[in-house]
Amino acid sequence: MTILLLGSGGREHAIAWKLRQSPTVTRLICAPGNPGMATLGQLLPVNPDDANGVVELWRQLAPDLVVIGPEAPLAAGVSDALRDAGAAVFGPSKAAARLEWDKSFSKNFMERHGIPSAASQSFAAEQIDAARNYVAAHPLPVVLKASGLAAGKGVVIAQTTEEALATLDQMLDGSAFGAAGETVVIEEFMQGEEASVFAITDGKHYGVLAPSQDHKRVGDGDTGPNTGGMGAYAPAPIVTPELMQSICQQIIEPTLRGMAAEGTPYIGCLYVGVMIHNGVARVVEFNSRFGDPETQVILPILTNDLATVMLAAANGTMEQVGELASEGAAACVVIASEGYPGSYPKGKEITGIEQAESREEGIVFHAGTAMRDAALVTNGGRVLGVTAINQQGNLADAVRHAYHAVEQISFDGAFYRSDIGHRAVGGGNRA
Ligand code: AMP
Ligand code: GLY
Repeated sequence: MTILLLGSGGREHAIAWKLRQSPTVTRLICAPGNPGMATLGQLLPVNPDDANGVVELWRQLAPDLVVIGPEAPLAAGVSDALRDAGAAVFGPSKAAARLEWDKSFSKNFMERHGIPSAASQSFAAEQIDAARNYVAAHPLPVVLKASGLAAGKGVVIAQTTEEALATLDQMLDGSAFGAAGETVVIEEFMQGEEASVFAITDGKHYGVLAPSQDHKRVGDGDTGPNTGGMGAYAPAPIVTPELMQSICQQIIEPTLRGMAAEGTPYIGCLYVGVMIHNGVARVVEFNSRFGDPETQVILPILTNDLATVMLAAANGTMEQVGELASEGAAACVVIASEGYPGSYPKGKEITGIEQAESREEGIVFHAGTAMRDAALVTNGGRVLGVTAINQQGNLADAVRHAYHAVEQISFDGAFYRSDIGHRAVGGGNRA
């Protein structure tokens, strides 16, 4: 089959890499893709957020399936435009993706359907007085979230009421996150450890992928500002089989039932970010797509044929796929540009990728790279995600191999966390 894949990050590179392993995939087209994906498929410079442009491309190429990687095209209605044109699409409708692009909706949805999450209340800009009163009376720390899309940066955990009130003002007046912050979700701070669980679904039936853990803070020991994710590993042992079963029963199933009952069935990958405390999981957030960099560890250990699974989700035949299975363990270390998640330079030449990939089971996924005068250069904050797999499931070994591969790579200003996987394998991963 021919597949059109939308997106250009590390997540999409990992999806392309996995799709290419399927004997059913004869042609892969990436719009726009990235230099790392050029060996896996044809790259076409089409903007994935432009519904008309993507539908036009679909008409020209007539692919059997369109896979939408990032959230922006979903929030822009690209999946709906494609379905209206007759395409088979892996990715939720704009109305279903609202679970991610409107956190206020998402919290109300969870409340309506009895899905465990932090207690919260949402306020629009014109409710500023009520919001200030609510914040002032809230126990500390208090969590403030911009309701709209903010590239993983729209959450502030305020330790004092003064900080919370100042943040609230900046969100509601649009100075902190623009329009995304003009509605604010104020919620209870949840203690515990986070994990990411992904379900692939046709709206009714679903399968879960290996649970993973992301490292959101920029610095070792989970310090510094939040990023899109500095590394990941899977499977995450904190999500025991019993806990996974309860996440399925208490969170995933009521979510899929609720979305279907409200007339917005959810098709694609449902990302459930959970906080685990005393063996109980509550939802931190839903995303309407695969996680990045979690995908870079989850797909390499998936034993199912991804193309077949995605097509079944798009066509409503997930029941025939049965359970999804994973084998082994994987770790991914993100190499970022100096300054990230703040501003950073671009155009720094990257060397050593071939050496990194020549090492046993090292895979280098491109997240923010570009070609300039036949040289590979940096073009983003998160530049590369270096994954290593251990087939026997030895995570410490996968982590060690990932770091060995990382050490082959250099560019001006490169940095990475040295403690990826620490919760599962302890510190001192670099030995
Ligand atoms: P989100 O964008 O909703 O994933 O939030 C970003 C990060 O903020 C999460 O990964 C958590 O680490 C943290 N966070 C969000 N909501 C809460 C909460 N209610 N309690 C504790 N931490 C939270
Ligand atoms: N790694 C976090 C996310 O994809 O949202």
